[in-house]
Amino acid sequence: MKIGVVGCGKISDQYFQFAQTSNKIKIISCTDQVAEKAIYQSSKYSISFVKSFEEMLLNPEIDTILNLTPPKEHKQITIESIKSSKHVYSEKPLGINSKECNEILEIRKKYNKQICSAPDTFLGAGIQKTKKMIEKNSIGQIVHASAFMVSPGHEHWHPNPDLYYDTGGGPDLDMAPYYLTTLIYLLGKVKRVTGSHKKTFATRKILSEPRKGEIIQVETPTHISSILDFHNGVICTMIMSFDTHGSTLPRIELYGTEGTLYLPDPNSFGGPLKIIKSGEEKWQNIPISENTGQRGMGLEDMADSIKNNKDAQTNCQNAAHIVNIIESVRISSEKNQHIYLN
Ligand SMILES: NC(=O)c1ccc[n+]([C@@H]2O[C@H](COP(=O)([O-])OP(=O)(O)OC[C@H]3O[C@@H](n4cnc5c(N)ncnc54)[C@H](O)[C@@H]3O)[C@@H](O)[C@H]2O)c1
Repeated sequence: MKIGVVGCGKISDQYFQFAQTSNKIKIISCTDQVAEKAIYQSSKYSISFVKSFEEMLLNPEIDTILNLTPPKEHKQITIESIKSSKHVYSEKPLGINSKECNEILEIRKKYNKQICSAPDTFLGAGIQKTKKMIEKNSIGQIVHASAFMVSPGHEHWHPNPDLYYDTGGGPDLDMAPYYLTTLIYLLGKVKRVTGSHKKTFATRKILSEPRKGEIIQVETPTHISSILDFHNGVICTMIMSFDTHGSTLPRIELYGTEGTLYLPDPNSFGGPLKIIKSGEEKWQNIPISENTGQRGMGLEDMADSIKNNKDAQTNCQNAAHIVNIIESVRISSEKNQHIYLN
């Protein structure tokens, strides 16, 4: 797969580095609306750069666009790429609401191209092992799941945290895709949601360099608590927050009729994965493969799927379902009611 990268910001290094080690994908060009950023990455990774996204689309050698722009830009870049007969792998979220995601799903029908979306962490060894344990009935019938991402916010480490507090940001659209992609992979789709959300602070102060001390406006909820009902009967409690300082909550746990599984952090690859069985007092560590995986695996899976003419594991239908869940939780909070998903 020959890739053109759009958006050369913070996350782009991880993709450029992965591509250097891969024999399935190759990044051959990059661009950014801030030309200096594309020039910098192009020289760091010895690839070409182009001045604009439009110019990139004209390059027939590029078969896939890797969309690493902020969420508000995702839909337009994905749709323009498909219209130019390119495959697309987009960072999450696929779009900033269901309307955008539906437009993407609709346009995809007209073109014989793949549209995939991050995250790909569920392809890592920890979540793959969890799937096998569930299939082996290790904890019996799953009754409940919990998913917690509680943090003080990205202004603590990101050089330009603005997008995470802008429309299309927030801990739910930014972080819940890791948790929900994992849970949907393990448990299937969600049927109904309810939730409460709030914006604790109207502004945030950037605490990281180089813009330390700058104030940014908050345009999105920053603390969201929700209950998700899966089609298979599992109930999940989920909290996504940029408004909390320290916690002992797990990332994801699954509670079954015969035991509990403590899952790896779905925002990374690998372990630890732990189990406690009914009647036992100690947690056991479950060994997982040393080759835990890394960000970019989804691109290799996509390359394989294009070659074999089948849907990639990170296909956009799941990504659209995830945006629908997140949006419906916000609507539930605003309307004071449960929301059934389409
Ligand atoms: N930073 C992380 O740790 C991280 C991790 C996982 C996923 N992501 C996702 O990756 C995406 C980018 O995040 P980031 O943290 O790298 O943001 P960033 O702000 O550091 O980088 C985004 C880049 O996109 C460029 N850009 C914006 N609009 C553009 C357009 N229309 N055309 C071309 N370039 C454009 C910006 O100039 C910027 O360089 C987001 O969707 C985010 O959710 C980020």
